[in-house]
Amino acid sequence: MTDKSAIDVLLKEDRVFPPPESFTQTARVSDHSLHKQAEADFEAYWAERARLLSWHKMFTKTLEWTPPTCKWFSDGKLNASVNCLDRHVVTAKRNQAAIIWEGEPGDSRTLTYYDLHREVNRFAGALKNLGVKKGDRVALYLPMIPELVVSMLACARIGAIHSVVFAGFSADSLADRITDAEAKVLITADGGWRRGKILQLKHIADEAVKKADCIESVVVVKRGEFKIQIEEGRDHWYHRLMDDAPRYVEPEPMDAEDLLFTLYTSGSTGRPKGVAHATAGYLVGAQTTTELVFDLQEDDVYWCTADIGWITGHSYIVYGPLACGVTQVMYEGAPDWPERDRFWEIVEKYGVTKFYTAPTAIRTFMRWGDEHVKKHDLSSLRLLGTVGEPINPAAWMWYREVVGEERCPIVDTWWQTETGSMMISPLPGVTPCKPGSATKALPGIFADVVDHDGKSIKSGGGLLVVRKPWPSMLRTVWGDHERFVETYFSRFGPEIYFTGDGAKRDDDGYIWILGRVDDVINVAGHRVGTMEVESALVSHDDVVEAACVGVVDPVKGQAIAAFVTVREGLEQEPDFADQLREHVGEKIGPIAKPKTVLFTASLPKTRSGKIMRRLLRDIAEGRALGDTTTLADSSVIEALKKKYEENP
Ligand code: PRX
Repeated sequence: MTDKSAIDVLLKEDRVFPPPESFTQTARVSDHSLHKQAEADFEAYWAERARLLSWHKMFTKTLEWTPPTCKWFSDGKLNASVNCLDRHVVTAKRNQAAIIWEGEPGDSRTLTYYDLHREVNRFAGALKNLGVKKGDRVALYLPMIPELVVSMLACARIGAIHSVVFAGFSADSLADRITDAEAKVLITADGGWRRGKILQLKHIADEAVKKADCIESVVVVKRGEFKIQIEEGRDHWYHRLMDDAPRYVEPEPMDAEDLLFTLYTSGSTGRPKGVAHATAGYLVGAQTTTELVFDLQEDDVYWCTADIGWITGHSYIVYGPLACGVTQVMYEGAPDWPERDRFWEIVEKYGVTKFYTAPTAIRTFMRWGDEHVKKHDLSSLRLLGTVGEPINPAAWMWYREVVGEERCPIVDTWWQTETGSMMISPLPGVTPCKPGSATKALPGIFADVVDHDGKSIKSGGGLLVVRKPWPSMLRTVWGDHERFVETYFSRFGPEIYFTGDGAKRDDDGYIWILGRVDDVINVAGHRVGTMEVESALVSHDDVVEAACVGVVDPVKGQAIAAFVTVREGLEQEPDFADQLREHVGEKIGPIAKPKTVLFTASLPKTRSGKIMRRLLRDIAEGRALGDTTTLADSSVIEALKKKYEENP
C-alpha cells in the first residue's frame, strides 16, 4: 500500500548534511555516548532521565513490563504542574517569560513563570470549587490562547484528566469525545480568531452539550466581545470564577502511572480512540526530547506552530517546554493573516531561535514564494524542526536554504499521538541529516523495520515497529483496553509495538518513513480515519454507500477522495458534490472534507464484500489499475475507470 513513487524519490536521495561544527561545539549532545549508554542499559538511561524531574516521592522501580502492559517509575509520586511551574518559580526563572503570546488580530500578552503559576493555582481552585476531583475528566475546547495552557496545568494540578478537543472539530465530534470520556466540565471560550473570522466556539459547545448530558458545568473564557448565550447555573465566566478562587492550591501527589490526559485520534476502524498517557513516563519523554532534540540553551526563544488540540502542542508547547523552563512564543491564528509573512514577522519580532512546524506549512510557504520569508531578518534562528508527515526532499532543501539560510540544522522528528514524544529524529549536534529521512531512533528507543513476519530488515522497505517499551508510550485506549491490545500489540505479538507506518531502512541504517499502511489518511499532518468520513457521508439521506481513500496532494501530503453511490439522478445536480463535502465538514470538521467526490453506480468489491480501496486509489490518482482478479464484478471498476478517464 506504500506509495511507490515516494520510494523512488527517496531511493535517489544521496545528499548528506553533517551538523555545522559551530553548532556541535556548544550542543548539549555532541557525541554518541548517550546512544551507547541507552543501548547498553535502556532502563538505567531512562531512570537517569526521570531523576531530572521533581518528585513528591522518588521512585525505586524503573520498569515493570508484562507485555503489552508497561509501568514506569510506578512507586514514585509527582505532579506535572509542579514540574512545569513550581520548581521554576523558586529560582531566577520566576520572572522569565514562559509564554509570549501573539493574538491573531495583533494583540499580545507575556506571562512569566510566576504569572502562569498564579493563574494555574487560581484556576485549579476554581475547578475544585466546581466540584472537580482527582480522576475526573475535563474537556477543553479552546482557541490557542494562554488560558488553554492554564486549564491543562490546572487539571494536572488537581489530578483531573484533561481531554483537549481541537477547536476545528464540529459539535458532533466534540459531543462524541465528551461522552466517551464522561467529562463533567467543559472549558471553552466565547470565540476565537481564525483568518480574521470568528470561530463560534461557545455556540458549537452549546450544541455539543445538548448531546452530552454528562456535562455539569461549562466554563467560558472571554476572548473577545463575541455575542453568546449564557445558560444560568450551568455556564460560568472564567474570570468570575478566578475572582472567587483561592490563591494557592496544594498540588495533588499523583502516582507515576495515574493518567495525565487522554487525546482522541483517528484509527483505521471505529470511532476516534482516547489515547491515554501516564503522568511520569509522559513527562520524562516530553522533557527529554524537548531538551535534547531542540538542543535547548539558556537564551532560547522557542516556537512550535502546532495547535495544542493535537499531540504536538501537548508535548512541545505545554509539557516539554514548560518542564524545561524555556521562553516560548505561542500564536493564535493563521500563517497568512493579515499577510503571508506573518510567521516570519513573528520570528523577527521576538528573535525566535528554535522553530518547529509541519511539512504542509513548509510546502505552502514554498508555494507562496521566497519573498515573504526574505522580507524579514531571520538571523536569530539556530535550529528548525518538522513533524507530522513525511517531508519530501525538495521541501526539506527549501526549508534549509530559504528559512534556515543554510545555517540551521533540521530535525525531522517522527512520532505519534500514541508514542507521546519523539522517537526517531536527528540529535542536531551529532547526526548527519539526509533530506527526507527522520534518521535514526533517539537514545532509549528501539525502532525497527520488519517484514510481514516481524523479522528485521537490514536494508529495504517494511513495517515500522518498536521493540522495547519506552516511558511515554500510551497506556491504554480510554474505556477500551481490548482495542489497545488489538491495534498496537497484536500484529507482531504483545512484545512489539506496531506503529501502523511503513518505512525503509537504507544502507547507512537511516529510516525513511513512507506513511500509513492502514486506513488512516494523513491530511496536512492530521489523522483522519477513512471509516469516519464514510460514516459521515452515509449519514446524508441521499447517500447509499461511500468509500474513501487517501491520494497524493502536493501541499497537504495526502487528500481525501470519496467515492459515493447516491440516489438515482442526484449526481447530475450541479452542486451536489459540494453539498456532500459541506455535510462531512459539519459532521466532523473542515479537516475531514473530501477534496474530491466521485460518483459511482456501485463500489468495486471482492466476492466476500470487501471494498477494494487499492483500485479506487488507482483511479483517483489516474494510474493503471492493479490486479482486478479478486473482484466480484469487474464491470464496476471498468465503468468507473472509463468515466473518470473521460472526465478526470
Ligand atoms: O504516519 C506518521 C506521521 O504521522 C502519524 C502520527 O500522527 P499523529 O498521531 O497525529 O501525530 C502527529 C504528530 C506527532 C505517524 O504514524 N508522521 C509523524 N511524524 C512524521 C510522520 N511521517 C513522516 N515523518 C515524520 N517526521
